[in-house]
Amino acid sequence: MNVIVLENASAIGQAAGDMVCELVSRRPNAVLGLATGSSPVPAYRRMIERCGAGEVSFREVTTFNLDEYCGLPAEHKNSYRTFMREELFSQVDIPLGNTNFLDGNCADEAAESARYSRALEAAGGVELQILGIGRNGHIGFNEPGEAFTQEAYKVALTPSTIEANSPYFTDRPMPAYAMTMGVGQILRARKIILIATGEAKADAVRAMLEGEITPRCPASALQGHPDVTVYLDPAAAGEASI
Ligand code: GLP
Repeated sequence: MNVIVLENASAIGQAAGDMVCELVSRRPNAVLGLATGSSPVPAYRRMIERCGAGEVSFREVTTFNLDEYCGLPAEHKNSYRTFMREELFSQVDIPLGNTNFLDGNCADEAAESARYSRALEAAGGVELQILGIGRNGHIGFNEPGEAFTQEAYKVALTPSTIEANSPYFTDRPMPAYAMTMGVGQILRARKIILIATGEAKADAVRAMLEGEITPRCPASALQGHPDVTVYLDPAAAGEASI
């Protein structure tokens, strides 16, 4: 993995956002895999800035988001669909019809997973996947477990994830389940950028980079991918006191 430590979240956002913009400039109809959470937001801001400046257009881009909560109306302020619309889609020129999400309210999770896999395949697969990482090493919502997951599925969120994300839920308790793309599916992206900032991520980052490849740290699976760039700030890199 190519590990790059930059001084802060905004420098990381600039570098990661530029990587996305360069790809889209070269290939205007690129397929992007997108993540939610606070980590990718500065990269999205950079993409918005460059799109606003006329340097790049997302008109022909297709996106697939990693995950979605179960049991939340799609229009709820905490749904990942709403998050993406607010943080990126409404501020660039991508048609909403080009954006894809797992349906967290699906009645049949196997059918929904098959639908997403088919849509991904029909689009030619993800060219560039943006990832964050959970404090417990999760990617997407693939929580630590006994086996690496493959295709999309419904996951019971762990206490660590519920503790980390609950503060964002002010009008109702956070959902206990989510639909997520599987680790196997994430690894099929041709190129991956993972962003982690802050001390709370340092243990997960170390396990991802230097630990055993194990489903107990889902992000460790990235060690087996040929093209991963990891952007860290000094705190996430474990250099906070240097
Ligand atoms: C969330 C998302 C992940 C994200 C992670 C870290 O729950 N499902 O895709 O990478 O947790 O979030 P943050 O970047 O806010 O720390």
